[in-house]
Amino acid sequence: MSQLKNDRLLRALLREPVDTTPIWIMRQAGRYLPEYRATRAKAGSFMGLCENPELACEVTMQPLDRFPLDAAILFSDILTIPDAMGLGLYFSEGEGPRFERPVQDAAAIRALGVPDPEDELRYVMDAVRLIRKELDGRVPLIGFSGSPWTLATYMVEGGSSKEFAHIKGMMYDDPATMHHLLSVLADTVVAYLNAQIAAGAQAVMVFDTWGGSLSPENYRLFSLQYMQRIVEGVTREAEGRKVPVVLFTKGGGQWLEIMADTGCDALGLDWTVNIADARKRVGDRVALQGNLDPAVLYASPDKVREEARKVLAGFGHGNGHVFNLGHGIHPKIDPENVAALVETVHEDGKQYHAG
Ligand code: CP3
Repeated sequence: MSQLKNDRLLRALLREPVDTTPIWIMRQAGRYLPEYRATRAKAGSFMGLCENPELACEVTMQPLDRFPLDAAILFSDILTIPDAMGLGLYFSEGEGPRFERPVQDAAAIRALGVPDPEDELRYVMDAVRLIRKELDGRVPLIGFSGSPWTLATYMVEGGSSKEFAHIKGMMYDDPATMHHLLSVLADTVVAYLNAQIAAGAQAVMVFDTWGGSLSPENYRLFSLQYMQRIVEGVTREAEGRKVPVVLFTKGGGQWLEIMADTGCDALGLDWTVNIADARKRVGDRVALQGNLDPAVLYASPDKVREEARKVLAGFGHGNGHVFNLGHGIHPKIDPENVAALVETVHEDGKQYHAG
């Protein structure tokens, strides 16, 4: 494997010195880029794109060819796991992800097995291998998975949800079955992330998009506990370098201390927390990744620059900041604003790392 030419991301996630603040963007390969829309049209569907390693590699590279980003993120989706478990994932236009066969009772949940990542999810591992080859050491590749709780919400609800009626009903009425599902998912996520690392992922991130819907007590029991198992089970070194693990609970700003207690290397922050406060709370235990409001990118380039500077100044001097949005970039954003953002972070970030 070739030497990394830009390792700012890995260094910042491990709170090591860097020349300037690294930046990547959640959903950086997505519909705001015309070239992404063209490749997606060629693939026919979103899942067709994910399942084709050449096309998945092509869209992974697209944002890097436009902007000097400090990381690539595997182009895939968190819902590949339930699809590999046999639930039948499909995307209906304007409705988001759906499952043909959701798991809504104990019998369906007890019948689930742990998929073999190099078999049912081989297309993901092939994409990782191809992307690493194509990157040729330009920047590191981030692998990812959904958290057990977040995956379970889609599997039980059959798609996106606002109320979480089925899964929360089950969590309260039949916690043993809920824990069984989360435990199978934790084993699956560990195997999946370790296969991505073996295939070439150099950092991994766990997306807990719906952990913030839980009460504090249930967050610990039904989400955090299983992310802890993932942190403990993931391979932390590959190719002679540490593989940082990032945990991101959207709406989880109140739980940063207990998230850091899992032993992860970094926490993703959404935009509802103040990054200066977050840093005071976690101290030097973990790096922080975030946390510009994605809606700032609807404003003028000058406003984008101003708001980006506030996030940089909020984290302040020293090691351990990776710039990102607090959640995924919206499809209607002008790519020119992304260019302004990346340039500002690299230019203004320097002053926080001098000396
Ligand atoms: O960040 C990246 O560039 C990597 C790619 C990535 C995608 N999904 C591509 C995608 C990642 C890391 C994800 C994770 C993901 N997927 C999450 C966790 C992160 C988050 O956003 O909270 C979740 C909850 C999903 C499930 C999912 N996938 C939903 C709800 C949707 C529909 C959203 C929509 O806007 O239609 C998807 C589809 C999806 N995943 C798209 C992309 C680029 C858009 C699909 C398209 O091209 O039509």
